[in-house]
Amino acid sequence: MNLAARLDKLPPYLFLEISRKIAEKRAQGADIVSFGIGDPDIPTPSKVIDALISTSHDPANHRYPESDGLPLLRSAISNWYKSRFGVSFDSNKEVLPLIGAKEGIGHMALCLIDPGDIALVPDPGYPVYSVGTMFAGGESHMMPLQEKNAWLPDLDLIPEEVARKATVMWLNYPNNPTGALADLDFFKKVVDFAKTYEIAVCHDAAYSEVTFDDYVAPSFMETPGAIDVGIEFHSLSKTYNMTGWRIGSAVGDPELIDGLLRVKSNLDSGISQAVQYMGIEALENINSDWITSNNEIYKRRRDRMVSVLNSIGLIVPTPKAGLYVWAKCPDGWTSASLAAELLDKHSVVVTPGRGYGEYGEGFIRLSLTTPDDRVEEGLNRLASAEF
Ligand SMILES: Cc1ncc(COP(=O)(O)O)c(C=O)c1O
Repeated sequence: MNLAARLDKLPPYLFLEISRKIAEKRAQGADIVSFGIGDPDIPTPSKVIDALISTSHDPANHRYPESDGLPLLRSAISNWYKSRFGVSFDSNKEVLPLIGAKEGIGHMALCLIDPGDIALVPDPGYPVYSVGTMFAGGESHMMPLQEKNAWLPDLDLIPEEVARKATVMWLNYPNNPTGALADLDFFKKVVDFAKTYEIAVCHDAAYSEVTFDDYVAPSFMETPGAIDVGIEFHSLSKTYNMTGWRIGSAVGDPELIDGLLRVKSNLDSGISQAVQYMGIEALENINSDWITSNNEIYKRRRDRMVSVLNSIGLIVPTPKAGLYVWAKCPDGWTSASLAAELLDKHSVVVTPGRGYGEYGEGFIRLSLTTPDDRVEEGLNRLASAEF
């Protein structure tokens, strides 16, 4: 059997080697604490589950959904954007429900990239941007995110000929894995750049609601001119602890929304309708107090983690958003050797920054989505490490 060559181009799956090691250690009886994947351990709000239970009895929801989702869900998304960011969208043309942001991001590449085209991709970054580009036959031009630039790409470093061949720029703030933030001044520069080179901007705002210390994340779509050049991906996964239900959205330029809908309607059949009703319930009836108290749980874990890691010699800033702590490796350690040491000696799983790209080297990522007692257990073990 001949599998397509593109499968050979896939980078080794970030968590595969770690999962193999975990399985090996568990088989030897080790009690592993994982700060690996960012997948909320806190349950989905019960009101949202109730919406699933009640609507799943209706036979109308047992059938194929429409690819563009229920009009009620599209309105709920546009109303949420209006009240949260003050930005209005036409829910018939500028809003598209997704089976999670990841699905939309992967499919978006098929709308924007022809073989030979260039995508501008952040490094380190969520791997789907470059994998989607490769699946569409394009090339990723990596935009280094570096500490010295507050983990924002330096647009002046993008060579003129690359910018001219680029069809899309991917951005993600609050950022995974670095925890970095972007403001509207930066987004304005992005809009100007995109207009100059006729590049579509795809902003992934999956973590915009997971914020701490009174920080409020802006939407790229608040930037003047953003709707002319771009689209924003959003997710209910992290905001409402709904990773397992698979629901997110895209909003923005109607041509990009229409392109994404055309790709999706040929490849998937939309979000299960009962799950769409969960989304409507979450967006309309889970208030900001609930979100704040949910974020408090992560904030407590963040504070404990930052303090312990700093005390053992790692340099760790306190992130104001997102589900991760991004810690600098001590001298003499690579991200892989440090992750291996923490697993081998302390049975604690962290993610090596190199897995997110070349510029992630020298850092490890720890997720805040581990239950409190396991966070304590993991940190107690790390507290005995010395670097
Ligand atoms: C930056 C970023 N975007 C998107 C996603 C996926 O979101 P969803 O669950 O909506 O597919 C993740 C998940 O970890 C992420 O880190």
